[in-house]
Amino acid sequence: MIDPVANDQLGKHVVSFCGSSRPGSLNANLLNQALWALRPSSDSTDVAPEELVQMYEKLGIPPIEQGGLEGGFGHLRGVTPEFTNDVVAWPDYDFPMFSQMIEETSGVPPMVVALHHRIAAADGLLIASPEYNGGYTALLKNTIDWVTRVDQRVFGGKYVGILTASPGGGGGVRAAGQMRQLFEGMRATVHDPTFSVPNAHEVLVAPLEPGLAPGLVDWVVGYASALNALPAAPD
Ligand SMILES: Cc1cc2nc3c(=O)[nH]c(=O)nc-3n(C[C@H](O)[C@H](O)[C@H](O)COP(=O)(O)O)c2cc1C
Repeated sequence: MIDPVANDQLGKHVVSFCGSSRPGSLNANLLNQALWALRPSSDSTDVAPEELVQMYEKLGIPPIEQGGLEGGFGHLRGVTPEFTNDVVAWPDYDFPMFSQMIEETSGVPPMVVALHHRIAAADGLLIASPEYNGGYTALLKNTIDWVTRVDQRVFGGKYVGILTASPGGGGGVRAAGQMRQLFEGMRATVHDPTFSVPNAHEVLVAPLEPGLAPGLVDWVVGYASALNALPAAPD
């Protein structure tokens, strides 16, 4: 098992957001679990979820409520010793549908500019999205379209981890493929593989019970290792 920070390059900044605003979103839940797994290297990688709770309590990050993510998951915004996390929580990206008419008449909304600055500060991005009709969601695309109006290169050079969750048997893998294409087209580097959870309504019934999604810790460790191996993004 690779230690996420064994190469001793600390301090990478990870920004995460979700393509669903739905209270109790499976994808927000999955993203939340990935953030739990992105934890200090001093804990072994097969640590039990209960121990994760205790570890985050020690870090001063409030525990996740069981049974869903109503109210968002911005309470997880916090700092681990190796990574700083910035969880972009709904409604931080409650933008109107992008329109060049709005842009030309009213300008870019201040909250878009604020989100742009948060994304620009990231070394890595963790992004989860539902699959809607075979693709990622309009909410995700709308968010991306708006922030690229502040700087069209904002996603360039970011190290992007892509996650999808679906009640269906495919797990949203088609959306994951489209997200890869989207981010690579913006000159981001997409972590290989992407991570999809089929039957997510059974697997992700609560943030910590019956446990983290199978394979998620290994995936996060792989993502974190690759991110840490990269040189820091320029300011
Ligand atoms: C408009 C719409 C289209 C959908 N299309 C798909 C699909 O193509 N593939 C799939 O696996 N699930 C599809 N679903 C089901 C979603 O995966 C499911 O609603 C999921 O819970 C949404 O993610 P969330 O829980 O993070 O909000 C669709 C749902 C909606 C509302």
